[in-house]
Amino acid sequence: MTLNNRFYQEKCYKDFSTSYFSLPTPYFLMSAPLSFNHFLRERGVDSNVRSLLYHLARGVKYINFSIRAGNTGKVGSENSSGEEQVALDVLADQLILDELRKSELCDCVASEEQVACTDVSGPRGKYFVAYDPLDGSSLIDTNLAVGSIFGIWENSEVLEKPVENGMLAACFAVYGPRITFVISIKGKGTHEFELNDVGEFILTEADITVAPETKYFAPGNLRAYAQDPKYKAVTDFWLAEQRKLRYSGGMVPDLNHILAKGNGIFSYPADNENTNGKLRLLFECAPMAFVFEEAGGAALNQAGGRILDTIVTDYHQRTPIFIGSKKEVEDIVQMMSS
Ligand code: AHG
Repeated sequence: MTLNNRFYQEKCYKDFSTSYFSLPTPYFLMSAPLSFNHFLRERGVDSNVRSLLYHLARGVKYINFSIRAGNTGKVGSENSSGEEQVALDVLADQLILDELRKSELCDCVASEEQVACTDVSGPRGKYFVAYDPLDGSSLIDTNLAVGSIFGIWENSEVLEKPVENGMLAACFAVYGPRITFVISIKGKGTHEFELNDVGEFILTEADITVAPETKYFAPGNLRAYAQDPKYKAVTDFWLAEQRKLRYSGGMVPDLNHILAKGNGIFSYPADNENTNGKLRLLFECAPMAFVFEEAGGAALNQAGGRILDTIVTDYHQRTPIFIGSKKEVEDIVQMMSS
């Protein structure tokens, strides 16, 4: 990832600090062209989608605050898939739901933490948002980075259709040493923003691209190494090629690493117990596939099908995924499916 935009910001700041008293324009106004909303408006993003993204970004700020201030322990409850919830799973889910209600733009919304779709229809409500409010929450007690993932569709008629149908945008937040928000809008690329000290998301990288080939690999679900000779061959290939291992156990930081370095592959295949893998189509894989395709990358399932072509049969359906650098993903899925 180049840092041109950040250098520009720093230059603005230096110009400001050296000439503060002679300049009539305060710094916060000088930085306005790089702000989240301004950037999206300049790129011609529809005002409703911008408004939805604004509310999601607001939820992200509250989740960030909760992570830093909140209870990282388990609550003894389970989500709709029977996975143990931590207190922050429950809180993050509520914070996003509240923001989407306030937007008055959604018909219904689906969360990884809820069994069914939640009806939130406001007067203008027509959009559908699917989200994983706190992906990687089982890592929260270890102080590794975690994230939130969102997909936005033009209406809630998503079942029995390819998941790409009506998909308008996708984004994810990384709660790490820095708080970043990566946004992709259909046909308008993938862009990264960073939360600054006054609570505003500022552009740090426009038009992120992922190169077709890679030196990094992030091999999820290595249980399949012992079960599937093809996954063993793939993993052995990465090791023999002396690729660099970059795997944290959180899909969001692992995929963000690929975007930040501009190349890489992340895999999460099926295993004998989880015949469709672990990761959810609507809450995790489709939004990330959208982000990567907008950046020139690829996201395929184990049989070589495009993730975004998958027919949605259930809000909680899972899919194996190979995502990242286009040529690498295609070559590896060829090895998995031949
Ligand atoms: P959770 O939100 O329950 O912590 O799951 C995280 C997801 C994803 O972020 C990660 O890539 C994957 O689970 C790792 O799964 P396992 O280590 O359980 O195979």
